[in-house]
Amino acid sequence: MKLALAPMATLSHEALRLLIHRYGDPDEYFSEMIHAPSYVAGGKYEPYYVRTAPAPERMVWQITGPEEGPIAKAAVMLAPLGGLGLDLNMGCSAPDIARHGAGIAWMLKDPGETASMVALVRKELDSAGFSRSPSGGPFRLGVKLRLGAEENPEGLLSFCRVLIDAGVTQITLHPRTKSEKYGRPARWRFVAELARELPVPVYGNGDIASARDALETERAWGESGIAALMIGRGAVTRPWVFWEIGRLKAAAEGNVRSTLPPPPIDHLEVSRFFLSALAESQPAEFQLSRARRFFFYYCDNFTFAHHIKMKIQNAQTPEAIGGLLDSYFGEVPEDRLLYF
Ligand SMILES: Cc1cc2nc3c(=O)[nH]c(=O)nc-3n(C[C@H](O)[C@H](O)[C@H](O)COP(=O)(O)O)c2cc1C
Repeated sequence: MKLALAPMATLSHEALRLLIHRYGDPDEYFSEMIHAPSYVAGGKYEPYYVRTAPAPERMVWQITGPEEGPIAKAAVMLAPLGGLGLDLNMGCSAPDIARHGAGIAWMLKDPGETASMVALVRKELDSAGFSRSPSGGPFRLGVKLRLGAEENPEGLLSFCRVLIDAGVTQITLHPRTKSEKYGRPARWRFVAELARELPVPVYGNGDIASARDALETERAWGESGIAALMIGRGAVTRPWVFWEIGRLKAAAEGNVRSTLPPPPIDHLEVSRFFLSALAESQPAEFQLSRARRFFFYYCDNFTFAHHIKMKIQNAQTPEAIGGLLDSYFGEVPEDRLLYF
């Protein structure tokens, strides 16, 4: 199965990708969601959402919006940036997104309206010359879904068929309903069912927190034909997870060339690298909130995670966050190195 970084607003940006890249890229990097109306209007911060380092050819640009016109326009503007293609956000259930008709609202509207949006995007891409990808197949137009308002396997399947008829060529499923938070586990059997039934690649996403989880998921569901595992929060806590998956697989197949263990991860060095990548790739106005969001997950690697997270959430500058981490590792030096 292929591997993909999930689209995560405020997290799946260039600085995180640069950090992940040091260990090993996934096959695909989904961008954080790009708000179609703002992108089309040329908003001040939009250029920061479409930075492509470190692997432009692996980018998938995710679009969100409540209306078909701006979504189609944004698609035509994003397609020339290259990468693997586009993804339409139909899974985000954050109230301020869904309430305005975007994200999961597209799964709850009349299916004809959603099909019309997809068909318009497809038509505009075709007219702009993006009917085929550089590799020759149809230009990738994916959607990222949840289960919907409730569990309804037949309804989900027929909704996916409507999307495919309208021009969708890849589907990602995060198998939770609209109102479910992370407390209830993702139900991968729904991903497996879509993979078995649908003629397009189906990616699964949800609750893969480690390389071991990824291997177990692959073992449990591999036969259904799931095309890729998408990892979100797990890749923020463990930016090396994609590399680690490859390493565990190689070991399982007896292909590890060297018996030497890999060097340890130095959490202080990782933190400094991330903060400096953030400073270089994001506008000043975004840096504090994005640093706080990253460390909310990354600090789960530390013994006193709760304590340092609280301090970081109250820090007033990215430099202050750096200082807090320096002090933390001064006080808890045994937390600094992670050995494999
Ligand atoms: C902070 C945050 C922001 C997210 N933003 C998006 C987004 O922009 N688009 C999207 O489709 N999903 C978004 N998601 C959902 C993730 O892509 C993913 O479906 C979810 O976290 C489950 O995967 P995981 O268990 O691997 O994290 C977001 C999740 C988080 C935690």
